[in-house]
Amino acid sequence: RRPVRIAPSLLAADFARLGEETRAVAAAGADWLHLDIMDGHFVPNISFGPVVVKALRPHAGIPFDVHLMIAPADPYIEAFAAAGADLISVHPEAGPHLHRTLQSIRGLGKQAGVVLNPGTPVAAVENVLDLLDLVLVMSVNPGFGGQAFLASQLGKIAALRRMIDASGRDIALQVDGGITPATAPACIDAGADVLVAGTAVFAQPDYAAAIAAIRGNPA
Ligand code: DX5
Ligand code: ZN
Repeated sequence: RRPVRIAPSLLAADFARLGEETRAVAAAGADWLHLDIMDGHFVPNISFGPVVVKALRPHAGIPFDVHLMIAPADPYIEAFAAAGADLISVHPEAGPHLHRTLQSIRGLGKQAGVVLNPGTPVAAVENVLDLLDLVLVMSVNPGFGGQAFLASQLGKIAALRRMIDASGRDIALQVDGGITPATAPACIDAGADVLVAGTAVFAQPDYAAAIAAIRGNPA
């Protein structure tokens, strides 16, 4: 069975102590830090921008996984790259030229991802696999933490696992939304290898135990 990486979503952290929270999850065994960028337009919520990503960069050495829920995304990609993002993921609905957007992320020396909303089919990525380092399956509608996991997305995860394996490419398969120790196993069984978790990490008193439990290694 493939190793499972955990990417805590800072959206559920204490926003008055973001630096401390970043250090705490990195020390607790987080593999990546997931940073949810929301513009109040593409999704009905506003979070934070590249200034905050840049301010957090010195607080942890783990990869910064930036999930852009902004439209248009293209004008801001360079700013997130400069702020210290390692991976930058975009929704296909957030711009007219997905292939060009992915080329621009790669052109800045960053890893590129595509995010599939619950209503977006797997076909949205099949013609850009050569530009992808990550596919992210949303298991909630984007915009808020703490929503219930949509089991209807498990078939999409399995289909993407088959598509990635058939391509022979090194593409991470990430799931985001409603991930808990109870919902993680079905995602892992379907073929996911990176799990995002906001509430299930930051609402727990012991981040290390929470991360281990989602990974499937209860303390
Ligand atoms: C939702 C975000 C998620 C969110 C997950 O738009 O993309 O990353 O923070 O939160 P939980 O784990 O609480 O569902
Ligand atoms: Zn996210």
